[in-house]
Amino acid sequence: MMYRRFARPLLYRVDAERIHGLVFGGLAALQAVPGATSALRRLAHNADPRLLTQALGLAFPNPVGLAAGFDKDARGFEILGAMGFGFVEIGTLTGQPQPGNPRPRLFRLPDDRALVNRMGFNSGGAAAAEPRLAVRRTTVVGVNIGKSKRVANEDAVSDYRHSTHLLAPHADYLVVNVSSPNTPGLRDLQAVAALSPLLAAVRAEADLVSPLRRVPLLLKLAPDLADADLDAVSEMAVEHGLDGIIATNTIIARAGLRSSPEAVGACGAGGLSGAPLAERSLAVLRRLYRRVGDQLILIGVGGIESAADAWARIRAGATLVQGYTGFVYEGPLYAYRLARGLADAASRDGFARVQDAVGVDCEA
Ligand code: FNR
Repeated sequence: MMYRRFARPLLYRVDAERIHGLVFGGLAALQAVPGATSALRRLAHNADPRLLTQALGLAFPNPVGLAAGFDKDARGFEILGAMGFGFVEIGTLTGQPQPGNPRPRLFRLPDDRALVNRMGFNSGGAAAAEPRLAVRRTTVVGVNIGKSKRVANEDAVSDYRHSTHLLAPHADYLVVNVSSPNTPGLRDLQAVAALSPLLAAVRAEADLVSPLRRVPLLLKLAPDLADADLDAVSEMAVEHGLDGIIATNTIIARAGLRSSPEAVGACGAGGLSGAPLAERSLAVLRRLYRRVGDQLILIGVGGIESAADAWARIRAGATLVQGYTGFVYEGPLYAYRLARGLADAASRDGFARVQDAVGVDCEA
């Protein structure tokens, strides 16, 4: 209430990326204060056994994660984890440091509770982030890697391998991101012919640098993929022994928006996230669960705003969920509220644990 009424209208007056920088700077400063992270964690985490989730060989305190792109350079995962998220996915990190696209590149569409971004993988690169990840930590951290812009698609394998080499040893799970709309040609890597050698190389490199612990490997997909391509890619993911799929990234389409065409047009190109993405992300998740749900862990993401949304994803087949835009619009209590609401929903629907409901709506 406080956030929506007072803080949000003020924040809306300023460029979206500047606000992100300011908020993030504040969080990073808080993280540096001795004891602050653990004090916050005690306040904001629902320590509830109904929420404990076992997946990917990991124990998640709750199934609500922060999606990739918020903490691109792995600077704030502990404080973000302490804010109630069951896990934080950092990145996308690229093999080379790169500035991303020119600003402005992040826009709000408040009437749709949506964002449009064309950040373009701005990051300090894998090598710069590596020491920040190579520390003992409390938060479960996924590491999301993508292709550097100046690396041609033909050389993508070595770029991803370089990032894997540096980061896989510190990743609770690793994500191959081939679904951002903001790196020219990146999504062509979702074609089976390009993806197959890429996944094989990343898997092999991860095994090489982490011989004693098999690092779980996931693939993050775009919602714009046609159903036939989704089927092909998910079957290939199984063949390559992947551990999971994250569905979905942002969408290029601008269908069904409430915002005026002028407001939408003013954002320009980029990926749309938030509420308007929910329907397609859920449909993709359902399709994946029906085809490969018994073999892969699915992470549902895209337009999750409320505990009811998260519960629907879990019932549709997601073992874990993530949010980004909902966090921006709902504020700092987002993860806490979702997790608490999930625990209540599980009890209401007769499940001892949230995880017991994974896929119940999809079983024939
Ligand atoms: C993103 N997202 C994203 N995904 C990814 O794999 N790597 C990235 O670097 C980013 N960067 C990024 C920046 C911004 C500003 C936004 C809004 C989103 C996509 C994100 O992780 C998620 O998949 C989508 O935003 C859909 O979820 P929400 O936002 O609707 O909850």
